[in-house]
Amino acid sequence: MPKKQWGGRFQKEHDRLALLYSQSISFDWRLYPYDIAGSIAHARMLAECGIIKKTEANKIAKALREIGKKIADGAFTFEVDLEDIHTNIEAALMKKVGADIGGKLHTGRSRNDQVALDMRMYIRDEALTIVQLLHEFQKALIRLAEEDSEVIMPGFTHMQHAQPVLFAHHMLAYYEMLCRDEDRFIECFHSANVMPLGSAALAGTSFPIDRKMLAKELGFDSISQNSMDAVSDRDYLIEFLSACSILMMHISRLSEELVVWSTPEFGFVELDDSFTTGSSIMPQKKNPDIAELARGKTARVYGNLMTLLGLMKGLPLAYNSDMQEDKPCVFDSIDIVKSTLRVFARMMGSVTVYSDRMEEMCRTGFLNATDLADYLVKKGMPFRQAHEVVGKLVTHCLDQVLALEDVPLEKLRQFSPLFDDDVCDALRLDNIVNSRRLTGGTARSSVLHQIRRAKKDLGI
Ligand code: ARG
Repeated sequence: MPKKQWGGRFQKEHDRLALLYSQSISFDWRLYPYDIAGSIAHARMLAECGIIKKTEANKIAKALREIGKKIADGAFTFEVDLEDIHTNIEAALMKKVGADIGGKLHTGRSRNDQVALDMRMYIRDEALTIVQLLHEFQKALIRLAEEDSEVIMPGFTHMQHAQPVLFAHHMLAYYEMLCRDEDRFIECFHSANVMPLGSAALAGTSFPIDRKMLAKELGFDSISQNSMDAVSDRDYLIEFLSACSILMMHISRLSEELVVWSTPEFGFVELDDSFTTGSSIMPQKKNPDIAELARGKTARVYGNLMTLLGLMKGLPLAYNSDMQEDKPCVFDSIDIVKSTLRVFARMMGSVTVYSDRMEEMCRTGFLNATDLADYLVKKGMPFRQAHEVVGKLVTHCLDQVLALEDVPLEKLRQFSPLFDDDVCDALRLDNIVNSRRLTGGTARSSVLHQIRRAKKDLGI
Protein backbone atom coordinates (compact mmCIF):
# COMPACT_ATOMS: atom_id res chain seq x y z
CA MET A 1 0.00 0.00 0.00
CA PRO A 2 1.47 3.45 -0.90
CA LYS A 3 2.52 5.61 2.02
CA LYS A 4 -0.01 8.26 3.05
CA GLN A 5 1.14 11.87 2.93
CA TRP A 6 -0.55 12.42 6.26
CA GLY A 7 0.53 9.10 7.77
CA GLY A 8 3.12 10.35 10.28
CA ARG A 9 1.04 10.30 13.44
CA PHE A 10 -0.86 7.12 12.66
CA GLN A 11 0.07 3.73 14.08
CA LYS A 12 -2.56 1.70 12.28
CA GLU A 13 -3.36 1.18 8.62
CA HIS A 14 -6.42 2.97 7.27
CA ASP A 15 -9.42 0.61 7.33
CA ARG A 16 -10.09 -0.61 3.80
CA LEU A 17 -13.76 0.32 3.80
CA ALA A 18 -13.02 3.66 5.41
CA LEU A 19 -10.52 4.33 2.66
CA LEU A 20 -12.96 3.43 -0.10
CA TYR A 21 -15.56 5.57 1.62
CA SER A 22 -13.35 8.62 1.81
CA GLN A 23 -11.57 8.47 -1.55
CA SER A 24 -12.44 11.04 -4.21
CA ILE A 25 -9.98 10.03 -6.92
CA SER A 26 -12.74 8.11 -8.71
CA PHE A 27 -14.30 11.45 -9.62
CA ASP A 28 -11.83 14.28 -8.90
CA TRP A 29 -9.21 12.94 -11.32
CA ARG A 30 -10.74 15.28 -13.89
CA LEU A 31 -9.19 18.20 -12.04
CA TYR A 32 -5.70 17.05 -12.99
CA PRO A 33 -4.85 19.78 -15.55
CA TYR A 34 -5.65 22.46 -12.98
CA ASP A 35 -3.89 20.68 -10.16
CA ILE A 36 -0.77 20.45 -12.29
CA ALA A 37 -0.92 24.05 -13.53
CA GLY A 38 -1.51 25.23 -9.95
CA SER A 39 1.42 23.21 -8.61
CA ILE A 40 3.79 24.42 -11.31
CA ALA A 41 2.87 28.03 -10.54
CA HIS A 42 3.26 27.36 -6.80
CA ALA A 43 6.73 25.80 -7.29
CA ARG A 44 7.87 28.72 -9.46
CA MET A 45 6.56 31.21 -6.95
CA LEU A 46 8.31 29.39 -4.06
CA ALA A 47 11.57 29.66 -6.00
CA GLU A 48 11.00 33.30 -6.89
CA CYS A 49 10.47 34.05 -3.19
CA GLY A 50 13.62 32.16 -2.23
CA ILE A 51 11.75 29.44 -0.35
CA ILE A 52 13.03 26.64 -2.59
CA LYS A 53 15.86 26.63 -5.13
CA LYS A 54 15.24 27.56 -8.76
CA THR A 55 16.77 24.24 -9.87
CA GLU A 56 14.36 22.40 -7.59
CA ALA A 57 11.39 24.33 -8.97
CA ASN A 58 12.48 23.53 -12.51
CA LYS A 59 12.74 19.83 -11.75
CA ILE A 60 9.33 19.88 -10.09
CA ALA A 61 7.76 21.74 -13.01
CA LYS A 62 9.27 19.40 -15.60
CA ALA A 63 8.13 16.30 -13.71
CA LEU A 64 4.64 17.72 -13.24
CA ARG A 65 4.36 18.43 -16.95
CA GLU A 66 5.36 14.84 -17.70
CA ILE A 67 2.80 13.54 -15.22
CA GLY A 68 0.14 15.72 -16.88
CA LYS A 69 1.01 14.30 -20.28
CA LYS A 70 0.91 10.75 -18.96
CA ILE A 71 -2.54 11.32 -17.50
CA ALA A 72 -3.76 12.94 -20.72
CA ASP A 73 -2.46 9.92 -22.67
CA GLY A 74 -4.38 7.57 -20.41
CA ALA A 75 -1.12 5.94 -19.28
CA PHE A 76 -1.28 6.99 -15.62
CA THR A 77 -2.70 4.68 -12.98
CA PHE A 78 -4.60 6.47 -10.26
CA GLU A 79 -4.33 4.79 -6.90
CA VAL A 80 -7.38 4.70 -4.74
CA ASP A 81 -5.18 4.31 -1.66
CA LEU A 82 -3.88 7.79 -2.36
CA GLU A 83 -7.36 9.21 -1.89
CA ASP A 84 -7.58 12.13 -4.25
CA ILE A 85 -6.09 13.85 -7.27
CA HIS A 86 -3.81 16.09 -5.24
CA THR A 87 -2.14 13.25 -3.38
CA ASN A 88 -1.97 11.04 -6.47
CA ILE A 89 -0.08 13.70 -8.39
CA GLU A 90 2.17 14.55 -5.44
CA ALA A 91 3.06 10.87 -4.95
CA ALA A 92 3.91 10.54 -8.65
CA LEU A 93 6.06 13.65 -8.38
CA MET A 94 7.94 12.20 -5.41
CA LYS A 95 8.64 9.08 -7.43
CA LYS A 96 10.03 11.11 -10.29
CA VAL A 97 12.17 13.70 -8.51
CA GLY A 98 12.65 12.05 -5.13
CA ALA A 99 11.13 12.93 -1.79
CA ASP A 100 13.85 15.47 -0.98
CA ILE A 101 12.77 17.75 -3.80
CA GLY A 102 9.18 16.61 -4.39
CA GLY A 103 8.44 16.92 -0.69
CA LYS A 104 9.07 20.66 -0.87
CA LEU A 105 6.20 21.44 -3.22
CA HIS A 106 3.58 21.45 -0.50
CA THR A 107 5.41 24.18 1.45
CA GLY A 108 2.99 26.91 2.50
CA ARG A 109 0.07 25.08 0.93
CA SER A 110 -2.69 22.74 2.05
CA ARG A 111 -5.04 20.51 0.11
CA ASN A 112 -7.75 22.86 1.33
CA ASP A 113 -6.54 25.84 -0.69
CA GLN A 114 -5.29 23.53 -3.42
CA VAL A 115 -8.73 22.04 -4.06
CA ALA A 116 -10.28 25.51 -3.88
CA LEU A 117 -7.84 26.65 -6.56
CA ASP A 118 -8.42 23.63 -8.80
CA MET A 119 -12.19 23.96 -8.66
CA ARG A 120 -12.08 27.67 -9.42
CA MET A 121 -9.86 27.11 -12.44
CA TYR A 122 -12.05 24.24 -13.60
CA ILE A 123 -15.24 26.29 -13.28
CA ARG A 124 -13.68 29.19 -15.19
CA ASP A 125 -12.97 26.87 -18.13
CA GLU A 126 -16.29 25.08 -18.01
CA ALA A 127 -18.25 28.34 -17.80
CA LEU A 128 -16.56 29.52 -21.00
CA THR A 129 -17.09 26.18 -22.74
CA ILE A 130 -20.77 26.33 -21.83
CA VAL A 131 -20.99 29.85 -23.29
CA GLN A 132 -19.54 28.52 -26.57
CA LEU A 133 -22.03 25.63 -26.62
CA LEU A 134 -24.87 28.03 -25.84
CA HIS A 135 -23.90 29.99 -28.94
CA GLU A 136 -24.09 26.86 -31.10
CA PHE A 137 -27.54 26.09 -29.74
CA GLN A 138 -28.63 29.68 -30.34
CA LYS A 139 -27.38 29.50 -33.92
CA ALA A 140 -29.53 26.40 -34.52
CA LEU A 141 -32.57 28.22 -33.16
CA ILE A 142 -31.89 31.26 -35.32
CA ARG A 143 -31.51 29.10 -38.43
CA LEU A 144 -34.81 27.41 -37.67
CA ALA A 145 -36.49 30.78 -37.11
CA GLU A 146 -35.07 32.10 -40.38
CA GLU A 147 -36.09 29.06 -42.43
CA ASP A 148 -39.66 29.25 -41.22
CA SER A 149 -39.90 32.97 -40.70
CA GLU A 150 -43.30 33.31 -42.43
CA VAL A 151 -45.10 30.51 -40.60
CA ILE A 152 -47.97 31.59 -38.36
CA MET A 153 -48.95 29.39 -35.43
CA PRO A 154 -51.38 29.67 -32.54
CA GLY A 155 -49.82 31.35 -29.53
CA PHE A 156 -51.02 29.89 -26.25
CA THR A 157 -51.75 31.09 -22.75
CA HIS A 158 -53.02 28.55 -20.21
CA MET A 159 -52.43 26.07 -23.06
CA GLN A 160 -55.51 27.59 -24.75
CA HIS A 161 -55.44 29.26 -28.14
CA ALA A 162 -54.68 32.91 -27.50
CA GLN A 163 -53.38 34.99 -30.42
CA PRO A 164 -51.53 34.18 -33.64
CA VAL A 165 -47.75 34.49 -33.54
CA LEU A 166 -44.95 33.72 -35.93
CA PHE A 167 -43.27 30.38 -35.28
CA ALA A 168 -40.00 32.32 -35.59
CA HIS A 169 -41.10 34.61 -32.76
CA HIS A 170 -41.67 31.56 -30.59
CA MET A 171 -38.18 30.23 -31.34
CA LEU A 172 -36.63 33.63 -30.70
CA ALA A 173 -38.18 33.64 -27.24
CA TYR A 174 -35.79 30.78 -26.44
CA TYR A 175 -32.92 32.72 -27.97
CA GLU A 176 -33.59 35.50 -25.44
CA MET A 177 -33.65 33.05 -22.52
CA LEU A 178 -30.31 31.67 -23.65
CA CYS A 179 -28.85 35.19 -23.81
CA ARG A 180 -29.65 35.61 -20.13
CA ASP A 181 -28.14 32.17 -19.47
CA GLU A 182 -24.98 33.33 -21.17
CA ASP A 183 -24.83 36.40 -18.92
CA ARG A 184 -25.21 34.14 -15.90
CA PHE A 185 -22.35 31.87 -16.95
CA ILE A 186 -20.11 34.86 -17.56
CA GLU A 187 -20.98 36.04 -14.05
CA CYS A 188 -20.02 32.57 -12.81
CA PHE A 189 -16.66 32.95 -14.51
CA HIS A 190 -16.07 36.18 -12.60
CA SER A 191 -17.24 34.71 -9.28
CA ALA A 192 -14.77 31.85 -9.71
CA ASN A 193 -11.96 34.13 -10.81
CA VAL A 194 -10.52 34.82 -7.34
CA MET A 195 -7.23 33.16 -6.39
CA PRO A 196 -7.34 31.30 -3.02
CA LEU A 197 -3.77 29.87 -2.77
CA GLY A 198 -1.91 31.12 0.27
CA SER A 199 -4.90 30.46 2.51
CA ALA A 200 -3.27 27.10 3.30
CA ALA A 201 -5.32 24.97 5.71
CA LEU A 202 -7.38 27.88 7.03
CA ALA A 203 -5.17 30.51 8.61
CA GLY A 204 -2.82 31.51 5.81
CA THR A 205 0.89 30.70 5.82
CA SER A 206 3.90 32.15 7.60
CA PHE A 207 6.11 31.64 4.53
CA PRO A 208 6.80 34.86 2.65
CA ILE A 209 4.93 33.80 -0.48
CA ASP A 210 3.80 36.05 -3.31
CA ARG A 211 0.08 35.55 -3.86
CA LYS A 212 -0.14 38.23 -6.52
CA MET A 213 2.46 36.44 -8.59
CA LEU A 214 0.41 33.24 -8.35
CA ALA A 215 -2.72 35.09 -9.42
CA LYS A 216 -0.96 36.62 -12.40
CA GLU A 217 0.62 33.33 -13.42
CA LEU A 218 -2.73 31.49 -13.25
CA GLY A 219 -4.76 34.26 -14.89
CA PHE A 220 -6.80 35.35 -11.88
CA ASP A 221 -8.21 38.87 -11.58
CA SER A 222 -7.84 39.11 -7.82
CA ILE A 223 -6.79 37.25 -4.68
CA SER A 224 -9.05 36.16 -1.82
CA GLN A 225 -9.06 38.47 1.21
CA ASN A 226 -9.79 36.07 4.07
CA SER A 227 -8.13 32.66 4.33
CA MET A 228 -10.95 31.06 6.33
CA ASP A 229 -13.52 32.18 3.81
CA ALA A 230 -11.33 31.20 0.87
CA VAL A 231 -10.99 27.55 1.89
CA SER A 232 -14.63 27.12 2.79
CA ASP A 233 -16.37 29.28 0.18
CA ARG A 234 -18.49 27.29 -2.24
CA ASP A 235 -20.80 30.20 -3.20
CA TYR A 236 -19.41 30.29 -6.72
CA LEU A 237 -20.35 26.62 -7.16
CA ILE A 238 -23.86 27.28 -5.91
CA GLU A 239 -24.12 30.19 -8.34
CA PHE A 240 -22.83 27.93 -11.08
CA LEU A 241 -25.37 25.20 -10.30
CA SER A 242 -28.10 27.86 -10.21
CA ALA A 243 -27.06 28.98 -13.69
CA CYS A 244 -27.08 25.32 -14.82
CA SER A 245 -30.53 24.82 -13.29
CA ILE A 246 -32.02 27.88 -14.96
CA LEU A 247 -30.53 26.93 -18.31
CA MET A 248 -31.89 23.39 -17.98
CA MET A 249 -35.27 24.81 -17.01
CA HIS A 250 -35.32 26.69 -20.32
CA ILE A 251 -34.32 23.61 -22.28
CA SER A 252 -36.90 21.58 -20.39
CA ARG A 253 -39.65 24.01 -21.38
CA LEU A 254 -38.61 23.70 -25.01
CA SER A 255 -38.52 19.92 -24.58
CA GLU A 256 -42.05 19.90 -23.25
CA GLU A 257 -43.17 21.88 -26.30
CA LEU A 258 -41.38 19.52 -28.67
CA VAL A 259 -42.98 16.51 -27.00
CA VAL A 260 -46.44 18.04 -27.22
CA TRP A 261 -45.99 19.50 -30.69
CA SER A 262 -44.91 16.16 -32.12
CA THR A 263 -48.08 14.36 -31.00
CA PRO A 264 -50.67 13.64 -33.74
CA GLU A 265 -53.06 15.89 -31.80
CA PHE A 266 -50.79 18.85 -32.47
CA GLY A 267 -48.75 17.68 -35.44
CA PHE A 268 -46.81 20.95 -35.47
CA VAL A 269 -43.34 19.45 -35.85
CA GLU A 270 -41.58 16.21 -36.53
CA LEU A 271 -38.27 15.34 -34.97
CA ASP A 272 -35.74 13.70 -37.23
CA ASP A 273 -35.47 9.90 -37.06
CA SER A 274 -31.91 10.24 -35.83
CA PHE A 275 -33.10 12.00 -32.66
CA THR A 276 -36.00 9.70 -31.81
CA THR A 277 -36.40 6.06 -30.84
CA GLY A 278 -38.89 3.29 -31.43
CA SER A 279 -40.75 1.05 -29.06
CA SER A 280 -39.83 -2.55 -28.34
CA ILE A 281 -43.46 -3.60 -28.64
CA MET A 282 -45.35 -0.98 -30.68
CA PRO A 283 -43.96 -0.97 -34.20
CA GLN A 284 -45.50 2.38 -35.14
CA LYS A 285 -43.86 4.40 -32.35
CA LYS A 286 -41.46 7.27 -32.79
CA ASN A 287 -40.65 8.69 -29.40
CA PRO A 288 -39.11 12.10 -28.65
CA ASP A 289 -36.63 10.63 -26.16
CA ILE A 290 -34.04 13.36 -26.32
CA ALA A 291 -36.57 15.97 -25.32
CA GLU A 292 -37.98 13.72 -22.60
CA LEU A 293 -34.54 12.93 -21.25
CA ALA A 294 -33.56 16.61 -21.18
CA ARG A 295 -36.72 17.25 -19.16
CA GLY A 296 -35.74 14.39 -16.84
CA LYS A 297 -32.10 15.40 -16.53
CA THR A 298 -33.24 18.89 -15.56
CA ALA A 299 -34.57 17.33 -12.37
CA ARG A 300 -31.15 15.86 -11.70
CA VAL A 301 -29.48 19.24 -12.11
CA TYR A 302 -32.00 20.82 -9.72
CA GLY A 303 -31.24 17.99 -7.30
CA ASN A 304 -27.53 18.74 -7.54
CA LEU A 305 -28.15 22.38 -6.67
CA MET A 306 -30.23 21.28 -3.67
CA THR A 307 -27.47 18.87 -2.63
CA LEU A 308 -24.91 21.63 -2.58
CA LEU A 309 -27.15 24.08 -0.75
CA GLY A 310 -27.95 21.38 1.79
CA LEU A 311 -24.30 20.42 2.05
CA MET A 312 -23.20 23.91 2.97
CA LYS A 313 -25.92 25.10 5.28
CA GLY A 314 -24.70 23.55 8.51
CA LEU A 315 -20.96 23.72 8.06
CA PRO A 316 -18.89 25.56 10.62
CA LEU A 317 -15.79 27.39 9.35
CA ALA A 318 -13.48 26.47 7.81
CA TYR A 319 -12.89 23.35 5.65
CA ASN A 320 -14.91 20.20 6.42
CA SER A 321 -14.76 16.91 4.54
CA ASP A 322 -18.42 17.29 3.63
CA MET A 323 -17.16 19.72 1.02
CA GLN A 324 -15.61 16.90 -0.96
CA GLU A 325 -19.18 15.98 -1.88
CA ASP A 326 -19.47 19.21 -3.89
CA LYS A 327 -17.68 17.55 -6.78
CA PRO A 328 -20.03 14.78 -7.91
CA CYS A 329 -22.95 17.20 -8.12
CA VAL A 330 -20.94 19.84 -9.97
CA PHE A 331 -19.38 17.33 -12.39
CA ASP A 332 -22.70 15.64 -13.04
CA SER A 333 -24.39 18.96 -13.78
CA ILE A 334 -21.63 20.06 -16.11
CA ASP A 335 -21.79 16.79 -18.04
CA ILE A 336 -25.56 17.07 -18.35
CA VAL A 337 -25.50 20.72 -19.43
CA LYS A 338 -22.78 20.24 -22.02
CA SER A 339 -24.23 17.08 -23.54
CA THR A 340 -27.74 18.57 -23.59
CA LEU A 341 -26.53 21.71 -25.37
CA ARG A 342 -24.58 19.66 -27.90
CA VAL A 343 -27.44 17.32 -28.74
CA PHE A 344 -30.03 20.11 -28.85
CA ALA A 345 -27.96 22.21 -31.24
CA ARG A 346 -28.03 19.25 -33.63
CA MET A 347 -31.59 18.15 -33.00
CA MET A 348 -33.06 21.64 -33.51
CA GLY A 349 -31.27 21.78 -36.83
CA SER A 350 -33.24 18.76 -38.01
CA VAL A 351 -36.77 19.68 -36.87
CA THR A 352 -39.41 19.59 -39.62
CA VAL A 353 -41.97 22.34 -39.17
CA TYR A 354 -45.47 21.52 -40.45
CA SER A 355 -46.56 25.01 -41.36
CA ASP A 356 -49.86 23.89 -42.95
CA ARG A 357 -50.91 22.21 -39.74
CA MET A 358 -49.94 25.23 -37.66
CA GLU A 359 -51.91 27.52 -39.95
CA GLU A 360 -54.86 25.14 -39.96
CA MET A 361 -54.92 25.19 -36.17
CA CYS A 362 -54.89 29.00 -36.29
CA ARG A 363 -58.38 28.81 -37.72
CA THR A 364 -59.75 27.33 -34.51
CA GLY A 365 -59.98 28.92 -31.10
CA PHE A 366 -60.85 32.51 -32.16
CA LEU A 367 -57.24 33.73 -32.28
CA ASN A 368 -58.53 36.95 -33.86
CA ALA A 369 -60.99 37.83 -31.06
CA THR A 370 -58.69 40.35 -29.37
CA ASP A 371 -58.13 42.12 -32.66
CA LEU A 372 -61.84 42.27 -33.29
CA ALA A 373 -62.26 44.01 -29.95
CA ASP A 374 -59.34 46.31 -30.82
CA TYR A 375 -61.11 47.09 -34.11
CA LEU A 376 -64.15 48.38 -32.20
CA VAL A 377 -61.87 50.36 -29.88
CA LYS A 378 -60.26 52.03 -32.87
CA LYS A 379 -63.80 53.01 -33.99
CA GLY A 380 -64.35 54.71 -30.65
CA MET A 381 -65.79 52.03 -28.34
CA PRO A 382 -64.28 51.70 -24.82
CA PHE A 383 -62.22 48.49 -24.59
CA ARG A 384 -64.31 46.87 -21.84
CA GLN A 385 -67.46 47.29 -23.91
CA ALA A 386 -65.70 45.97 -27.01
CA HIS A 387 -64.56 42.93 -25.00
CA GLU A 388 -68.19 42.28 -24.03
CA VAL A 389 -69.46 42.62 -27.62
CA VAL A 390 -66.86 40.23 -29.00
CA GLY A 391 -67.46 37.83 -26.13
CA LYS A 392 -71.12 37.65 -27.16
CA LEU A 393 -70.07 37.16 -30.78
CA VAL A 394 -67.84 34.27 -29.77
CA THR A 395 -70.77 32.63 -27.98
CA HIS A 396 -72.84 33.10 -31.14
CA CYS A 397 -70.07 31.49 -33.23
CA LEU A 398 -69.77 28.59 -30.82
CA ASP A 399 -73.53 27.98 -31.16
CA GLN A 400 -73.39 28.19 -34.93
CA VAL A 401 -70.04 26.41 -35.28
CA LEU A 402 -68.52 29.35 -37.10
CA ALA A 403 -65.25 31.24 -37.02
CA LEU A 404 -65.42 35.00 -36.43
CA GLU A 405 -64.39 35.69 -40.01
CA ASP A 406 -67.35 33.61 -41.25
CA VAL A 407 -69.98 35.87 -39.66
CA PRO A 408 -71.60 38.06 -42.34
CA LEU A 409 -71.33 41.81 -41.90
CA GLU A 410 -75.10 42.25 -41.38
CA LYS A 411 -74.92 39.81 -38.52
CA LEU A 412 -71.91 41.58 -37.03
CA ARG A 413 -73.82 44.85 -37.20
CA GLN A 414 -76.50 43.35 -34.96
CA PHE A 415 -73.82 43.13 -32.30
CA SER A 416 -72.43 46.62 -32.99
CA PRO A 417 -73.20 49.22 -35.68
CA LEU A 418 -69.50 50.13 -35.66
CA PHE A 419 -68.63 47.04 -37.77
CA ASP A 420 -67.89 47.93 -41.38
CA ASP A 421 -66.39 46.48 -44.57
CA ASP A 422 -62.86 46.89 -43.28
CA VAL A 423 -63.56 44.30 -40.56
CA CYS A 424 -62.39 41.52 -42.91
CA ASP A 425 -58.89 42.97 -42.93
CA ALA A 426 -58.93 43.32 -39.17
CA LEU A 427 -59.70 39.62 -38.85
CA ARG A 428 -56.96 38.33 -41.15
CA LEU A 429 -54.26 36.48 -39.27
CA ASP A 430 -51.37 37.91 -41.28
CA ASN A 431 -52.64 41.43 -40.61
CA ILE A 432 -53.04 40.63 -36.96
CA VAL A 433 -49.49 39.32 -36.72
CA ASN A 434 -47.99 42.14 -38.75
CA SER A 435 -49.76 44.88 -36.82
CA ARG A 436 -47.58 44.08 -33.78
CA ARG A 437 -44.68 46.03 -35.12
CA LEU A 438 -43.43 47.45 -31.84
CA THR A 439 -40.11 46.27 -30.39
CA GLY A 440 -40.60 42.74 -29.12
CA GLY A 441 -43.81 42.19 -31.09
CA THR A 442 -44.54 39.27 -33.40
CA ALA A 443 -44.81 41.27 -36.65
CA ARG A 444 -42.60 39.97 -39.44
CA SER A 445 -40.66 43.24 -39.43
CA SER A 446 -40.04 42.97 -35.70
CA VAL A 447 -39.06 39.30 -35.95
CA LEU A 448 -36.66 40.04 -38.79
CA HIS A 449 -35.18 42.74 -36.63
CA GLN A 450 -34.75 40.21 -33.78
CA ILE A 451 -33.09 37.78 -36.18
CA ARG A 452 -30.71 40.44 -37.50
CA ARG A 453 -29.77 41.47 -33.98
CA ALA A 454 -29.19 37.85 -32.94
CA LYS A 455 -27.07 37.11 -36.00
CA LYS A 456 -24.96 40.16 -35.35
CA ASP A 457 -24.44 39.15 -31.71
CA LEU A 458 -23.51 35.61 -32.73
CA GLY A 459 -21.25 36.82 -35.53
CA ILE A 460 -23.14 34.94 -38.27
N1 ARG B 1 -10.39 15.70 -1.77
C1 ARG B 1 -10.62 16.84 -0.93
C2 ARG B 1 -11.86 17.60 -1.41
O1 ARG B 1 -12.30 17.32 -2.47
C3 ARG B 1 -9.46 17.74 -0.95
C4 ARG B 1 -9.26 18.50 0.32
C5 ARG B 1 -8.94 17.57 1.41
N2 ARG B 1 -8.53 18.24 2.59
C6 ARG B 1 -8.49 17.58 3.77
N3 ARG B 1 -8.07 18.25 4.76
N4 ARG B 1 -8.90 16.37 3.89
O2 ARG B 1 -12.38 18.46 -0.76
